[in-house]
Amino acid sequence: MFGPRKPLHADGTLEPDRVLRKTLSWPHLVALGVGAIVGTGIYTLTGVGADRAGPAVILAFAIAGAVCACAALAYAELATMIPTSGSAYTYTYSVLGETLGWIVGWSLILEYSVACSAVAVGWSAYLVGWLEAAGIHLPPLLLVGPHEGGIVNLPAVLVALTIAGMLMAGTRESATFNIFLVVIKLAALGVFVALTLPAFDSANLTPFMPYGFGSVVQDGETRGVMAAAAIVFFAFYGFDAVATSAEEAKNPSRDLKIGIIGSMLTATSIYMLVAIGAVGAISYTVLADSAEPLAFVLRALDHPFAASAVALAAIVALPSVILVMMYGQSRIFFVMSRDGLLPRWASKVSPRTGSPVLITGLTGLFVAAFAGFFTIGDLAELANAGTLLAFIAVGACLMILRKTQPDLPRVFRCPQPYVVGTLAIVGCAYLMLSLPEITLMRFVAWNAIGLAVYLLYGRARSMLTRDILAVERS
Ligand code: ALA
Repeated sequence: MFGPRKPLHADGTLEPDRVLRKTLSWPHLVALGVGAIVGTGIYTLTGVGADRAGPAVILAFAIAGAVCACAALAYAELATMIPTSGSAYTYTYSVLGETLGWIVGWSLILEYSVACSAVAVGWSAYLVGWLEAAGIHLPPLLLVGPHEGGIVNLPAVLVALTIAGMLMAGTRESATFNIFLVVIKLAALGVFVALTLPAFDSANLTPFMPYGFGSVVQDGETRGVMAAAAIVFFAFYGFDAVATSAEEAKNPSRDLKIGIIGSMLTATSIYMLVAIGAVGAISYTVLADSAEPLAFVLRALDHPFAASAVALAAIVALPSVILVMMYGQSRIFFVMSRDGLLPRWASKVSPRTGSPVLITGLTGLFVAAFAGFFTIGDLAELANAGTLLAFIAVGACLMILRKTQPDLPRVFRCPQPYVVGTLAIVGCAYLMLSLPEITLMRFVAWNAIGLAVYLLYGRARSMLTRDILAVERS
């Protein structure tokens, strides 16, 4: 009903110039995960979350983290069972068929590329603020896109293109460099927590839920704890980027498990501390207005040096999120092309670097174009919608495979798979419905375009369909 299904272990049939090299071990994978997870979400969207939920932004982080933890467990089982690149796209293709697989793959473009664009825009704001504080003023028309009165967000475009160039130079070097950036990013959050927790004042936490729990429109803004959770959800994903690199892991069964769950747990614990530190130290009403909330809180607590150090860490380290997400995106395009659903030239691997150079370059251009012309809020919300759909699909695949293929060897067995799978699906659906209506309309439009591309191009060229037809003819 939903098109042909890809065999679960398709590796043996791959052509030699379309196979990725196994170069990554678990420290690389944990760093890839943390590199993708900790970024603009915690550094910039904490303020937006406080604006939507008040001090209950802490609760919003907990809710989004719990939903992501369920999705992470489902991912870990599937990634170790189906260790080929492509993550949720590949799982859905194998379990639910080509059409749904394509829709998930098309949604993953939002999760990976559009999220990269959002991070690039957040990075650009930090850079501009930092330069201005140092007395360096750039032409304002080149610092924001048309929706904010400018022409193009040039710093965001440049950072996207630079990272794409690094990835084109080879996976391994980029992943090692990423470890260095991850350390900087975590150290800055550590400093933030160490300086804000001693200033904790319980009076700042009342009223705890000034806008209530459910997502409702108040004064033209979507508010409530769930509305905040639907935005700060952005801060949590990225762990699945580890799953997209399964084919390049040296020991996928052990390393992926450590990579996904380890990076998820690390990030969730840090976020809870940062959120408590932020809304416990100053009133959420002032925090809500800040575009660089972490530096803002530190300045308010009279730590100007620490404030500029944290801002500098964001400028230096946020590109690691772009690096990992863009890496994941190019691998997903690569697999979709290898499957015949996107043009075949896209899955050619460079003999020199062992990575798909052409498609990586195109991904960079796509990310740069979105980053140049759209606002961070629009980009983050749309990226969240795509990610939530992918997580729903992963939860469904986990449960269906447990039913249909109970005896397949599972290196990592998700505990209580039906409870975890159901919680992942229901939690993600609830978060999705808590997004603003305009975002949901854009998401539907995006998928309508995707479906048209599939029907006009991919369906007839699918390698799987061709193989099936060839077998039927012979
Ligand atoms: N989780 C990533 C971030 O917060 C996308 O930047």
